Amino acid sequence: MHTVIFEPMNILLIGSGGREHALAWKIKQSLHCNNLFVAPGNAGTAQLATNAPIAADDFVQLGSFCLAQKIELVLVGPEVPLVKGIRDYFAADEKLKNILMVGPGKTGAQLEGSKDFSKQFMLRNNIPTAKAKTFYSNQTAEAEGYLEKLEPPYVLKADGLAAGKGVVISSSLAEAKATVREMLEEKKFGDASAKVLIEEFLDGIELSVFVLTDGQDYVLLPEAKDYKRIGDEDTGPNTGGMGSVSPVPFASSAFMKKVEEKIIRPTVAGLKQENISYNGFIFIGLMNVEGEPYVIEYNARMGDPETQSVMMRLKGDFVELLMACAKGELKNHTLEIDPAYVTTVVMAAGGYPDAYEKEKVISGLGDVTNAHVFHAGTKLKDGKIVTDGGRVLAITGKGQSLVEARSHAYQAVSKINWEGKYFRSDIGKDVLKIHTSQNLES
Ligand code: AMP
Ligand code: GLY
Repeated sequence: MHTVIFEPMNILLIGSGGREHALAWKIKQSLHCNNLFVAPGNAGTAQLATNAPIAADDFVQLGSFCLAQKIELVLVGPEVPLVKGIRDYFAADEKLKNILMVGPGKTGAQLEGSKDFSKQFMLRNNIPTAKAKTFYSNQTAEAEGYLEKLEPPYVLKADGLAAGKGVVISSSLAEAKATVREMLEEKKFGDASAKVLIEEFLDGIELSVFVLTDGQDYVLLPEAKDYKRIGDEDTGPNTGGMGSVSPVPFASSAFMKKVEEKIIRPTVAGLKQENISYNGFIFIGLMNVEGEPYVIEYNARMGDPETQSVMMRLKGDFVELLMACAKGELKNHTLEIDPAYVTTVVMAAGGYPDAYEKEKVISGLGDVTNAHVFHAGTKLKDGKIVTDGGRVLAITGKGQSLVEARSHAYQAVSKINWEGKYFRSDIGKDVLKIHTSQNLES
């Protein structure tokens, strides 16, 4: 790790979820952080930074705030401001253009903002991914005809951003046809489903891989496994993510070598070759199909709740890393990773991912000892911390083994209460089985 000398600076972090609380927690540990602001933040970020009540996509207000507070570095947490072009907005303004930013421009963010764009990008660059065909809103009949020729399960994806809900997987042809009609004709996801991809089903185990690139070079952050379904044993509807673990046993060095060679390097090289300047995180959702990696999706940001686990294992000064990225100096920057095991369990509001109630008083936060509590959907009301979203808290436990990490996380979960709290009780359990069988084999 090289030593970088610069004056402590004022930093703005954009976003309000558990991911942002974890990023804020890591930024605050840096010697280079003077004042940290989070816009709009949550009750957790308020404990270690100053929340600024500005929406994540209100570029005008965010720009004025940066000038007023002499912000030198902006880290963009969620996808919406990236896809709407926050980087381009800052770059086009004389007074804002010299503020350093980590987060890609509008074109690069299309890797997440348009599944059609990212699919074409992968095909052009020979990056392994599921075969897919794109249909437009006047092509419902063609889309239905195409489905008839495929074997179930059917994978349908709205092209644009749909808050994690735009992917429907169905084993019934009738249901798949109805969904494609709803998406294309009835605009189930608004303009996001004006185009729909029908994709080959990949049968395997998922892995989240995180890359930070300055457009030339990149560093690889710790990998994580996300638990997307609401129910234990991966049942029920998809959510933003109900838990995460890191490290992931099947992400062996041999597998990760394939990921770097077949996916990460061609992705960074493809962006460069296509003149898409990209500065920020690339979160690659992968499927391990019998030992071979395939890209399920790209995201132009870190994952939530993967970030909570990843930040817990990342050693070193995070602001130095962000600065190296923003300035295009990632070459020769190495990361030090804690070999410890981490488990993050999301505590959600009862009813999530469908309708749920808000403003339930949260108790027991002060009783947590051996784990870290990251806030997601919380706010302060009358001096009390209350629920303010579907995913409310993310509890991260760390240990010398996965068993210990899980035990720390779940002990903390049992101490925290509010009316209707819900969590999955099996985060990391499948990985534990892989560990156990590997130990038996060795
Ligand atoms: P995405 O929003 O693209 O991450 O998709 C949401 C989830 O749907 C993924 O995390 C996978 O679990 C699943 N998924 C997406 N595409 C495929 C595919 N081609 N085959 C199997 N599962 C998929
Ligand atoms: N946990 C998945 C995501 O952040 O998209």
